[in-house]
Amino acid sequence: MQTFNKETAIKKRLEFLRKKGKTIGFVPTMGALHKGHLSLIELSKKKCDITVCSIFVNPTQFNNKEDLEKYPRKTSIDKELLKGLDVDILFLPDEKVIYPDGLDVEVDVDLEGLDKKWEGEFRPGHFKGVVEVVKRLLDIVQPDRLIMGQKDFQQFTIIKMMLDKLKMKTELEVAPIYRENDGLAMSSRNERLTKEFCQKSIILHETLAFAKNNFETKTVDDIEKIALQKIIDSGLKPEYFKIVDGKYLNALKDKKSDSVIAIVAAYAGEIRLIDNIIIKPL
Ligand code: PAJ
Repeated sequence: MQTFNKETAIKKRLEFLRKKGKTIGFVPTMGALHKGHLSLIELSKKKCDITVCSIFVNPTQFNNKEDLEKYPRKTSIDKELLKGLDVDILFLPDEKVIYPDGLDVEVDVDLEGLDKKWEGEFRPGHFKGVVEVVKRLLDIVQPDRLIMGQKDFQQFTIIKMMLDKLKMKTELEVAPIYRENDGLAMSSRNERLTKEFCQKSIILHETLAFAKNNFETKTVDDIEKIALQKIIDSGLKPEYFKIVDGKYLNALKDKKSDSVIAIVAAYAGEIRLIDNIIIKPL
């Protein structure tokens, strides 16, 4: 595995590989890698000749300073995991490489309000930061395929819109949610959960499964109300539990919608968790 910190060096290497006809798969991450991240890397390796993984804890997507400070950083363990998977290239830029002109940059793309709802409402500015960093990383890596997780469904949908609107050539691949045996979706934040909240957080997956299993027989309103109550009863503090269409993530008005997904965000103690389940695929 080759590790690069600088833009010119990684670009030069990738240019060389591209000229040799190699296809490039790219998995951007913020590190503290778990099996969910590793499944994205395996997918990239299956689909592409060369796999690039980046680790960069992006300051512009954190709307909460404490969350940024406490975000787990484990570069040396991550490196060993990536080597074990035979990743070809690790990109480890610092802030100056990603934001040479300072943090105040903006990608000119109309996201049709997709960045303002759900996660966008509870984490103002979050998606602006995500779009900035992903655009910058894509400009550097110029991959054939970008691999992202269904776990962050709204992020995936926004990046898909960005790629379409900016007519970028990279193809977006989605990888399924990797879960613990008890159903809890893997997340770098899980390691900050207390043992008690780790167990209680299973309710998120349980209520999502409840929504999927009862979609045909109960009203959307009833499902959402019951799910929210179950989450509260388990000791978590929900921010939203919604059944939405899978394309624009609008609250579902009609069960006939082509694609349907249930999304949830809740605090388990101090830790904010998100999860989702596809009820009708896109
Ligand atoms: P991070 O949270 O590190 O996640 C990196 C990628 O791993 C994302 O595409 C995310 O959806 C995926 N992922 C996380 N948990 C997963 C799970 N349990 N199963 C499958 N995939 C999972 O998402 C980010 O970083 C950042 O916003 C980033 C895109 C890197 C931009 O900074």
